[in-house]
Amino acid sequence: MSADLSDILAAKRILVCVGPGGVGKTTTAAALSLEAARRGRKTLVLTIDPAKRLANSLGLDELGHDIQQVPAELINGEGELHAMMLDQKKAFDEIVSRYASDPEAVKRIMANPVYSQISGSLAGSLEYAAMAKVDELDRESDYDLIVVDTPPTAHALDFLDAPQKLTNAIDSPAIEWFRNMRQGGRGRGVIGRTGAYVLKRLSKFTGSKFLDDLSIFFTEFNDILGGFKQRAEETFDLLRQDKVGFVLVASPEAMAVRESLFFFQRLSKASMPFAGFVVNRVHANRPSALSTDQLAAAIKDLPKVAELEYQPTSVRIAAEDMLASHAELQILAEADEQQIKRLRDAAGADATVVRVPFFREDIHSIAGLGRLSEYLAPRR
Ligand SMILES: Nc1ncnc2c1ncn2[C@@H]1O[C@H](COP(=O)(O)OP(=O)(O)O)[C@@H](O)[C@H]1O
Ligand SMILES: [Mg+2]
Repeated sequence: MSADLSDILAAKRILVCVGPGGVGKTTTAAALSLEAARRGRKTLVLTIDPAKRLANSLGLDELGHDIQQVPAELINGEGELHAMMLDQKKAFDEIVSRYASDPEAVKRIMANPVYSQISGSLAGSLEYAAMAKVDELDRESDYDLIVVDTPPTAHALDFLDAPQKLTNAIDSPAIEWFRNMRQGGRGRGVIGRTGAYVLKRLSKFTGSKFLDDLSIFFTEFNDILGGFKQRAEETFDLLRQDKVGFVLVASPEAMAVRESLFFFQRLSKASMPFAGFVVNRVHANRPSALSTDQLAAAIKDLPKVAELEYQPTSVRIAAEDMLASHAELQILAEADEQQIKRLRDAAGADATVVRVPFFREDIHSIAGLGRLSEYLAPRR
């Protein structure tokens, strides 16, 4: 593997940025896609939760579920950059439309109040919607590269577990019970009769309309579920292909690194292609052998300091303070290096591990994304 992500940016069709919340997935996805466009590829970034200022800086004030092209003058290169922000509800609607038996069934499901609740709140549904969208784009779009940002889950692994979680949730005994209940006496004997009884009691509290909606929904949704499962399996297959690369984003903190390592192992178990680690917000490692005297002499010689004619002791105190601060930063940098070493030890000496420094400011501009790219995929 190479020292940075340049080769991957040129060779892959789908890049998935994964990592725990807040480490810089969205920023990394935006920077990689911008750089790919600058290098001539027709690129789409599928983002989940871009900061408003980041979307604004890409000229995408109203970023939504519809794909928009980033103004060409911002790209300043041969390719194109397109962007969309996944709308979970709309992505779900698309899946339902695709798998429902007929247009009337689509209408009925979408009009059912239970659907609007459930499509937004089932465990793993955002992750599932994102993956299904990637699968659809892979089949039906002509982008050279699709860069995928992933939802801000507490654990990066949730992303791969999402389809299973979702099907488990829909297959849960409680929901099965509702489904059976509706079939009343028809061959379901005890469940049917108990169901009818419980339904009658429950409807006293909730109103029978709600329970009706619920059981109709789960009966009708059962057909769609087959489609959901099929989609999940197909997406899982897609994510194993060579044209895909997982970019594991982490910060150099022990927790984030541990999670990245879990995910790395999970990828190799599932035979999914690992592209590289991005360790974001790394403290600069700049060991210094300067003595206080040497530093004091250097400070004293600075023209601006010389003008002020400080006492030698004042300059010396300043030099001592500076060295103490530097030593503290160096401790942080060395701690970061130790964490990065854990990634190396796990992934092998030739695995791609990119370090991105801690920038003074948040990255909310095209220029900021460009600066990030210089670390992710430097121009050679
Ligand atoms: N290397 C960095 N230096 C400084 N700020 C950063 C850096 N990387 C990301 N940020 C900022 O950190 C915040 C969180 O980044 P984001 O990409 O949204 O994380 P995630 O998508 O993983 O939750 C954003 O405000 C972003 O601008
Ligand atoms: Mg994000």
